[in-house]
Amino acid sequence: MGRLEGRIAAVTGAGRGIGAEIAKLMAREGARVVVNDLGGNTDGTGTGKIADDVVAEINKAGGQAVSHTESIATVAGGESLLATAIDAFGGLDILVNNAGILRDKTIFNMDESDWDAVIAVHLKGHYCCARPFAAYIRENNRTNCRIINFSSTSGLFGNFGQANYGAAKAGIAGFTRVLALELAKYGCTVNTISPAALTRMTIPLRERRGEKVAASDLDAGGPQHVAPIVAWLATEEAGAVSNQIVHSARGMLGIMQQPAVIKSFQKKSGTWTLDEIDRYMPQLLEAKAAHDVAVKKAGAPVLID
Ligand SMILES: NC(=O)c1ccc[n+]([C@@H]2O[C@H](COP(=O)([O-])OP(=O)(O)OC[C@H]3O[C@@H](n4cnc5c(N)ncnc54)[C@H](O)[C@@H]3O)[C@@H](O)[C@H]2O)c1
Repeated sequence: MGRLEGRIAAVTGAGRGIGAEIAKLMAREGARVVVNDLGGNTDGTGTGKIADDVVAEINKAGGQAVSHTESIATVAGGESLLATAIDAFGGLDILVNNAGILRDKTIFNMDESDWDAVIAVHLKGHYCCARPFAAYIRENNRTNCRIINFSSTSGLFGNFGQANYGAAKAGIAGFTRVLALELAKYGCTVNTISPAALTRMTIPLRERRGEKVAASDLDAGGPQHVAPIVAWLATEEAGAVSNQIVHSARGMLGIMQQPAVIKSFQKKSGTWTLDEIDRYMPQLLEAKAAHDVAVKKAGAPVLID
C-alpha cells in the first residue's frame, strides 16, 4: 500500500520540472492528484496543455489524476483548483504550491511588469491557492491536511539579478511561518521547500555560463530528487513536522535555520546613544560572523550510503 493512499493532492505548476515529478510520485504512492499547469514559457508568457500529458502518464500507469490549466496567480484560479479536486475526487488534503516563473534583471533594468509578474505567480499565487484551501479546512473541519510551499536560496540567501524573485521567495518563507501558526489547530502542517534541480528554469542559466548539461548531470541533479522530500512531508509520518524550511538540492536533504536573535544587549534604562551603539555593534557583528562560520560547518552534508 502506498504512503499516500486515500489522500487527495493538488500540485501547481505540475506540467513539467519539479512539479511533474511530485505529481507522479504522489500518484504512485496512492494519492489522487490534480495536476495544475498553465503551460507557459519560463517568463510567464503563453499557455499550453502540458498538464494533460502528465495526467495521461499517471492514468496510464494505473494512478488517478485530472488536469487544471488555469493560472494560480488569481484567487479565481486558486478557487477553481480546489473546486476541481472536490468535483473529481471529493475533497483536498494536500496543496503543493510549486508553480513558478523567472524574469531575471538587475534593479536598474527591472520594469514594473517584471516585478508584478513574478510577485503574482510566486507570492500572490501561494495566497491564491492557500486562502480557499484554508477556508475549506476550517469550514469542513478537515484534519491532517498539508501545505508545502516553494521558496528558494535566491530569497533565503540572496542572488544577484533576482530582486523580484528573491523578494517573492523570501515572502513565501514568511507566509509559511504565519500559516503554520494559523492552521496548527486544524492539524494542518505548513512547510517550505528550498529546492535546487536541473529543469528548464535552471539549465539555461548553466548553459549561459558555458557549462554543458549531460545526461549524468540530470541523473544526479534532476527534479526527481526533490519529489520524495515533498511527498514525505505529505505523509502521515510527517504529521508533527511543521513550520520548517527543508532544503533539497541535487540529492542533498537538509534543514535550514529560521531567523533568530544570535546575541543581544539590553540597557537597564534609557534609550541607546549613538556612541553606545558604536561600542556594542562590533560585538554583535563578531557574534554574527562566528555564528555564520559555525552554521556553515554544521551544514556541510554528511555522506551516507
Ligand atoms: N529548479 C530549481 O533549481 C529551483 C530552485 C529554487 C526554487 N525553485 C522553484 O521550484 C518551483 C518549480 O521550478 P521548476 O524548476 O520545476 O520550474 P519549471 O519552469 O520547470 O516548472 C514550473 C511550472 O510552473 C508553471 N506555471 C508558471 N506560472 C503558472 C501559473 N500562473 N499557473 C499555473 N502554472 C504556472 C509553468 O508552466 C511550469 O510548467 C518554482 O517555484 C521555482 O521557483 C526551483
